[in-house]
Amino acid sequence: MPKRLVIASDHGGIDLKNVIIQELRAKNIDIVDLGTHGASSVDYTDYAHALAEDVLSNEGMGVLICGTGIGMSLAANRHIGIRAALCTNSYMARMAREHNDANVLCMGGRVVGPGVALDMVEIFLNTEFEGDRHIRRINKIDVSPQ
Ligand code: RB5
Repeated sequence: MPKRLVIASDHGGIDLKNVIIQELRAKNIDIVDLGTHGASSVDYTDYAHALAEDVLSNEGMGVLICGTGIGMSLAANRHIGIRAALCTNSYMARMAREHNDANVLCMGGRVVGPGVALDMVEIFLNTEFEGDRHIRRINKIDVSPQ
């Protein structure tokens, strides 16, 4: 479990975000909600950047949800040190941690249902990075040296 867990969505992901928050809090897992907090149309980029900065400054982990998950992952991955994985099933969520050391899970609120989404979150939070050869590979993700 990360030392800090944050979640954010746009209007296309808010219903799924609320389901995830409710489920985690029922299990006494702390999760900080960075918005959006209403049904009004907002820009997913604002939430992706806010969450990415929070994850980096607190060495935490995050969950980002928009309609497809695509816009959130594109924006979050612009931050050096963020490895945001857009996942649609449990296998992808597990591999995102084991092989990619992903620190942000992205998903589409209009793509996956709550059952799949909750499974992905649980797996993402409870799966360790395997390290070894994968360290070399993730160190080659950024084009500019860190
Ligand atoms: C909003 O309609 C939609 O474009 C957004 O949620 C997301 O899917 C973008 O990638």
